[in-house]
This record gives sequence, C-alpha cells and structure tokens, in this order.
Amino acid sequence: MDTPFSTQIRVASHEQHTEAETSPFMGHLLGGRLGVEAYARYTEQLWFVYRALEDAAGSLAGDPVAGPFVRPELMRTAALERDLAHLRGPGWRDGLTALPATAAYAARVAECAATWTGGYVAHHYTRYLGDLSGGQIIRDRAEKTWGFDRKGDGVRFYVFEEIANPAAFKRLYRELLDAVEADELERRRIVDECKRAFDFNGAVFRELDAEFPLSA
Ligand code: HEM
Repeated sequence: MDTPFSTQIRVASHEQHTEAETSPFMGHLLGGRLGVEAYARYTEQLWFVYRALEDAAGSLAGDPVAGPFVRPELMRTAALERDLAHLRGPGWRDGLTALPATAAYAARVAECAATWTGGYVAHHYTRYLGDLSGGQIIRDRAEKTWGFDRKGDGVRFYVFEEIANPAAFKRLYRELLDAVEADELERRRIVDECKRAFDFNGAVFRELDAEFPLSA
C-alpha cells in the first residue's frame, strides 16, 4: 500500500477524533460550562497518562521504533506538575486519584512501553500530536473561562516552550511516522492501538462527565 503511514493513522482515527471533540465533557469544557474543579480533575488524569508515557522515555530512547519519537521538547510531566500546583496548591499530590478509565489507560501505555514499542508509538501519536493541535483550542478556552494568564500557570501543559513552530514540528513528526520500521501487518496493529488509545480517552471523558454533571 502506497498511502503514507501518517495518513493511514490519521484517516483511521478520524471518526473517533470527531467523537472525542464532540463528547459531552469536552463540549461542556469548551463551552465554558464547567467549573475549574472539573478542569483540575481532568488535568490530574492527564498527569497519570503522561507519567506512563514519559517514565518510559529514557529506556526507549535507543529503541529503533520508538526512539525517534522520544524528544525532550515534547515532555509534559513538569508542565503538568506546575499546573497542578497552581490548581490544587503545593499539596497537589495528596489525594490525587486516577479514575478507573485513567488507571486502565496508563496501565496500557506502560504495558506497551515495556513489551511492544509499536504500541507505544500509537499512544505517543494520539496524545502528543493532539496536544500540539486541538490542545491549543483547549488552552485558549481555559484561559478565557477560568482566567489563567495567557500561556501561564494552569495551562502550561498546552504550551510547548521549546517548539517554536508547531506546524513544522508536526510535519517532522509525520515524517517520523512515515519512516517507522514496521511492515504492513505491524502498521495495521499500530493503527488498531491508536484506535484503542482514542477509546481510552473517550472512557476518561465519560467518567469525568459522570463526576461533573451539568445541573441544568
Ligand atoms: C475538543 C477537543 C479537541 C479539539 C478541538 C481538537 C482539534 C484538533 C484539530 C483542529 C486538529 C487538526 C490539526 C491539524 O490538522 O494540523 C487535531 C488533530 C489531532 N487531534 Fe485533536 N482535538 C480535540 C481532542 C482530541 C483528543 C481527545 C485526542 C486524543 C487523545 C486528539 C488527538 C488528535 C490527534 C492525534 C491529531 C493529529 C491528527 C493528524 O494530523 O494525524 N484530539 N485536533
């Protein structure tokens, strides 16, 4: 098949992307209808997922499949921790809990990192390319809804300080996807794992929606 892998994976996940964008929790968040508590709870969930992605980064740096994707300018854990300190205060770690869907998501990321680097790439793509894209829309809404400083504490997760040109970076990222060392069958498995990654995100949104129902 001649279709570049970056196109295959984007096209295959397009429908689920639309579902994620239009999920009730995201809709309410972007519509400014949720309190900052819901945003903080969501940010906590992201922390668990990025810990799983980034704890593995060191050991995957030399891996022929995942290694090229491990890039310091993408790392989000430190930014998330600053946001959480701002949202929850210095004791943000106390009482921090993963929703069941988040725990399952992070466990799957860690499992892929340990046993199947192609799967790790699928999770990497689903999060980081999304953060570089739609993440910027979420940042803008969060700043306006809850009054965070522009690109400041509370939304640092969405600010890639070390990526001056996100469009160029995304092009480079797609080139890395196209060059992934994997045959057609393995590429299909990676695409399936990407769909699973979207499923995990959808499940987290549903649990957040259940925790923060709109009263009217
Ligand atoms: C309301 C929430 C969201 C909005 C507004 C949004 C918006 C966008 C937009 C505008 C793009 C296109 C960027 C481009 O063409 O360069 C994009 C790409 C992407 N988004 Fe989202 N998104 C949202 C949620 C999500 C979620 C929850 C995920 C998965 C966790 C996700 C994953 C992705 C990925 C992987 C891409 C890259 C597609 C590609 O070019 O290969 N997005 N998003």
